[in-house]
Amino acid sequence: MTRIHETQVRETQVRETQVRGTRIRLERPSDAAAREALLDAAYGPARFEKPSQRLRAGRAPARGLSLVATAGGAIVGTVRLWEASAGADRPALLLGPLAVHPEHRGIGIGAALMRHALDYAARRGHRTVLLVGDAAYYGRFGFTAEHTGALWLPGLDDRSRLLGCELVPDALDGARGTIRAPRKPQRTRLLDAVAALAAPASPKAA
Ligand SMILES: CC(C)(COP(=O)(O)OP(=O)(O)OC[C@H]1O[C@@H](n2cnc3c(N)ncnc32)[C@H](O)[C@@H]1OP(=O)(O)O)[C@@H](O)C(=O)NCCC(=O)NCCS
Repeated sequence: MTRIHETQVRETQVRETQVRGTRIRLERPSDAAAREALLDAAYGPARFEKPSQRLRAGRAPARGLSLVATAGGAIVGTVRLWEASAGADRPALLLGPLAVHPEHRGIGIGAALMRHALDYAARRGHRTVLLVGDAAYYGRFGFTAEHTGALWLPGLDDRSRLLGCELVPDALDGARGTIRAPRKPQRTRLLDAVAALAAPASPKAA
C-alpha cells in the first residue's frame, strides 16, 4: 500500500472534498470569527487553559495547515496544526483543536478533517504529528502513546493523553524531552536585529 507521505497527488486535487454534503477546505482569514465561535461551543472557556493552548498562544498555525469543514456555507468543523519541537532538534506538528459542530457530528466530518490534516502535513514534508486527546478517538488515525512516554508537555498531568502519529516511519524513535514552540529560525532573528537597529531609539515627542 502506498504510504501517506509517498503519495504524489497534487495538493490542489485534495483541497476541496465532498464529505456527505460537507466540504473540507483550507481556512480563510474571513473564517476566523466562525471558527472561534465553534471552538467556544465545543470546548467552552476552558479551552484557553489547556496545556497545548499555552504552546499555541500568540502564534500562527503552520503554513497551509488550517482546515475547515463547511456545510451550506457555514463553518461546521475546524482543525489546525502548529509547528513545535519534540525535544531537542526534532521538529513536529501539534494538532488541535479539532472540533465539529454538535449538529453535524457522527457523520465522519471529524475523520475527514483529520485525514486531510495528516495528508496535507505529509505533503508539506512534516514527519510527525502530536496531540493531546482521547486515544479511543485518535487511535483510528494512527495516533498512539507508544512513542510519547519520554516527551513532556508542560502543564499536562495525564501523560497517557499525549499521542503521536509518525508520518515517516520511525520519526518518533527515541523522542524525549520537552514539547515547546520551535525556536525562531536564525534568519528571522537576524531580520529582527536589523529591524531593531533601523527603528528609532525612542518615540518622537509630539
Ligand atoms: C471529537 C469530534 C471532533 C468528533 O467529530 P465527528 O465529526 O463527530 O467525528 P466522526 O464522525 O469522524 O466520528 C464519530 C465517532 O467518533 C466517536 N467519538 C467521538 N468522540 C470520541 C471520543 N472522545 N472518544 C472516543 N470516541 C469518540 C463517536 O462516538 C463516533 O463513533 P461511531 O462512529 O462508532 O458512531 C467531535 O465530537 C467534537 O467536536 N467534540 C467536541 C470536542 C471534543 O470533545 N474533543 C475531544 C476529543 S479528544
